[in-house]
Amino acid sequence: MAFDIEMIKKVYANFGPRTEAARKLVGRPLTLSEKILYTHLWDGNASTAYSRGTDYVDFAPDRVAMQDATAQMALLQFMQAGRPKVAVPSTVHCDHLITAKNGAAIDLPAANTESKEVFDFLASVSDKYGIGFWKPGAGIIHQVVLENYAFPGGMMIGTDSHTVNAGGLGMVAIGVGGADACDVMAGLPWELKFPKLIGVKLTGKLSGWTSAKDVILKVAGILTVKGGTGAIVEYFGDGATGMSCTGKGTICNMGAEIGATTSTFGYDESMERYLRATDRAEVADAANEIKEHLTGDPEVYAEPEKYFDQLIEINLSELEPYLNGPFTPDLATPISKMKEVAEANGWPLKVEWGLIGSCTNSSYEDLSRAASIAQQAIDKGLTIKADFGINPGSEQVRYTANRDGLLGTFEALNATIFTNACGPCIGMWDRVGAEKQEKNTIVHSFNRNFAKRADGNPNTFAFVTSPEIVAAIAIAGNLGFNPLTDTLTNNNGEQVKLDPPKGDELPVNGYAVEDAGYQAPSIDGSGVQVLVSPTSHRLQLLDPFAAWEGTDLKGLKLLIKAKGKCTTDHISMAGPWLKFRGHLDNISNNMLIGAVNFYNEKTDFVKNSLTGEYGPVPATQRAYKAAGLGAIVVGDENYGEGSSREHAAMEPRHLGVRAVLVKSFARIHETNLKKQGMLGLTFSIKDDYDKILEDDVIDIIGLTTFTPNVPLVLALNHANGTKEEILVNHSYNTQQIEWFKAGGALNIIRREAAA
Ligand code: F3S
Repeated sequence: MAFDIEMIKKVYANFGPRTEAARKLVGRPLTLSEKILYTHLWDGNASTAYSRGTDYVDFAPDRVAMQDATAQMALLQFMQAGRPKVAVPSTVHCDHLITAKNGAAIDLPAANTESKEVFDFLASVSDKYGIGFWKPGAGIIHQVVLENYAFPGGMMIGTDSHTVNAGGLGMVAIGVGGADACDVMAGLPWELKFPKLIGVKLTGKLSGWTSAKDVILKVAGILTVKGGTGAIVEYFGDGATGMSCTGKGTICNMGAEIGATTSTFGYDESMERYLRATDRAEVADAANEIKEHLTGDPEVYAEPEKYFDQLIEINLSELEPYLNGPFTPDLATPISKMKEVAEANGWPLKVEWGLIGSCTNSSYEDLSRAASIAQQAIDKGLTIKADFGINPGSEQVRYTANRDGLLGTFEALNATIFTNACGPCIGMWDRVGAEKQEKNTIVHSFNRNFAKRADGNPNTFAFVTSPEIVAAIAIAGNLGFNPLTDTLTNNNGEQVKLDPPKGDELPVNGYAVEDAGYQAPSIDGSGVQVLVSPTSHRLQLLDPFAAWEGTDLKGLKLLIKAKGKCTTDHISMAGPWLKFRGHLDNISNNMLIGAVNFYNEKTDFVKNSLTGEYGPVPATQRAYKAAGLGAIVVGDENYGEGSSREHAAMEPRHLGVRAVLVKSFARIHETNLKKQGMLGLTFSIKDDYDKILEDDVIDIIGLTTFTPNVPLVLALNHANGTKEEILVNHSYNTQQIEWFKAGGALNIIRREAAA
């Protein structure tokens, strides 16, 4: 599994001097987040004090992690870069493509058959390029990363929004799109807007039924799903050091649900214990040598209001368990109020399923606390009322929990033990009866609970809570049950009360595993052949995009003038399209099918100006491409908001769209367009959006002298024979103009690699 101790020692050797230099430059004590950011600058030592929330900065992350759904396009792109090996330690984790239905013994072999070609591709490409490969069943990416690779003071990126989980071990770990991962693996800098900082001071101590999950459920209630946007959340205080490392991971994990860039905690004894228990004494020893640097400066935590942009204080001794939901993770209800609130809102009280697991809450501590509740149900003669499912976070956790009898306890309550994978958390749950779309309630220990997320049923009311509360509520079968105060009737007709959970932060007899599911890459992968069938529907090797032809772009068709919100989901839908993430041509059949056509207010219904007929957007664009014609997409404000999914830029590029002209861009999507060699343009005068007519033929003029800060001209050739010109802005710098000319950033990387 080989965590890279030499790389970690190198990071630590620089950590003190670079922190000291940054402290001098900034002229004040530093938070932990700032220390990690300043020690990971692409250029080494800091030469500027960056403005939070304003400056874009180039960083040098230490690691890259990818899950199977997003790794496909990231690695297909990396193959285009012409590099023999990845430049930083990287891993692939097969966890998203495994359906939960009958339990691991049946579901895992089924997934291995169904997605064989994807797994074979990922295994072979990992082998070739020096990437660690975690097989299906090895576990969920973030649990595996925490157990094996995360280290205090490190910086990593991952192609999954819950990469932030590694903040539990004191990292700055950030979720990105595949194109960013590709850049870092190719040895290029990674750009991020220097984040703002939110401090969360934790005082007091968790006890009884309250757990780390309740901290983040409470924070989500305070900050809402947008409150952390553009910020790192840094936790500190006695309450933080008194908590387990995996509990810290849970808190950081759900930082994604408040939109935070990431979350982190300072290095402490809980992290040291976890590192040693997971066979990384060397990392703990190395961290101990510089431990004063691996947390915020004492002055910062003494007067946090001076150093953070926003400060929240939570007294853990007063915190009660929460259930958040339904349909959004920030609708926080304390357990003492749940019955009343649920009744007032008409939420179904009968609970159909209790699910424990996901990358958020699948540690040994989580399973042991929940198992202690399950054991009480057995001991006290209670029959569980809801169905019960468990997704262990990793094979190491599963094996250890099985050895210690925890899984047996769940099974004694008729629990189904699903594969060590995402399963119901990502909608890969073949739930019996979900297609009837009946109104029902489930409780789970996951992080997200948007409509349809778990089982595809829009009428499933999903509530997020801790594993021990999931267990208690599943046993009661009632959302309004409060185990702190309420009793249950057992099989003898007696009233019994559940005692608070007990669990072990770490397994008393240590972790154990027979086969963790790891496959090391070849030392020399040059002879390894990457496995992609030319007839595959799910995978397709990429061809380099063509370079710019060297002239202005003339005679472009207007593909669609999108009206209103047009997110990356509108541009490249998820759901059933997930399986085509590794096949650019097939997934391009979802291009812009969610965008609303300005001229008829319909989705996926645009005019083909060659025939005058209306039809789907992808088919229309394919017709233009077949006729050798380029096209332009016009959009509204904040075009491309949402995820960093590069498919939203690659699909139009693949189908022959040459430019996207909008009132404003979401920045990441704008950068993705630039990376793929597209023109991302904005109206100089926003009202010029109204001048674009459905039958316009459009020329883009000024490309032969394409220069930073100089607008281009758009000639609108209207169908009535009139013509008008409008100015359009761009934000391309010199390097990005080179990307455009080369036909995409990867073409330049490949050219450099070949030189
Ligand atoms: Fe998987 Fe759900 Fe986490 S999809 S990575 S378990 S958020």
